[in-house]
Amino acid sequence: MIKLAPSILSADFAKLLEEVKKVENAGCEYLHIDVMDGHFVPNITLGPAIVKSLRKDVNMVFDAHLMIENPDRYIKEFADAGCDLIVVHQEACRHLHRTIQNIKAHNVKAGVALNPATPIDTIKHVLQDIDMVLIMTVNPGFGGQSFIESMIPKIEELKELIDSKNLNVDIQVDGGIKPENVYKVVKAGANVIVAGSAIFNSNDISETVKLFRKNASL
Ligand code: DX5
Ligand code: ZN
Repeated sequence: MIKLAPSILSADFAKLLEEVKKVENAGCEYLHIDVMDGHFVPNITLGPAIVKSLRKDVNMVFDAHLMIENPDRYIKEFADAGCDLIVVHQEACRHLHRTIQNIKAHNVKAGVALNPATPIDTIKHVLQDIDMVLIMTVNPGFGGQSFIESMIPKIEELKELIDSKNLNVDIQVDGGIKPENVYKVVKAGANVIVAGSAIFNSNDISETVKLFRKNASL
């Protein structure tokens, strides 16, 4: 069974709660919250205050994807705001093991994201300490980009590594995922599927969510 994680980056921010309620009512399990600082990526989005406001009215798993430099500075704030899972980028952490421990010390699940060019090897020695790996299937920064095909063997390599170590680590994919290509990433080993534009820009969100699930289980 896959889990669907709509990315709020493609939602209408002026009606954020209304938009989030649509994906919650459509049965999506995770809310993927893209946090950007204008340094690690060339875009700026939102911070813990917005997460805290949404938390009051939403029961989905809050999955914070921190695309920010030096994420340690903000882990406590995102945990206190109600995030269930905090994902940091390998490329943004000088002491990744310490950062992971910092996330877990706040009783929050920990994930590590890898940019398309970053090898799986860079997280091999922390795999047993985390709950999820996020394989970026676009370069982070914007919604609506095209899926990078060469990430399929990367997902397969990660799946093999996780299985060889007998670990229970989720594989999340993020960027350019649509009902048309979801089967490919699931077959390669992904089980948490982020989709921004494909969900929020669709005419009928609940039909699109159904189509994602149907195609994922082909
Ligand atoms: C990109 C973000 C993604 C983005 C995905 O930097 O991390 O979560 O919103 O959007 P789509 O699904 O439109 O590629
Ligand atoms: Zn994301």
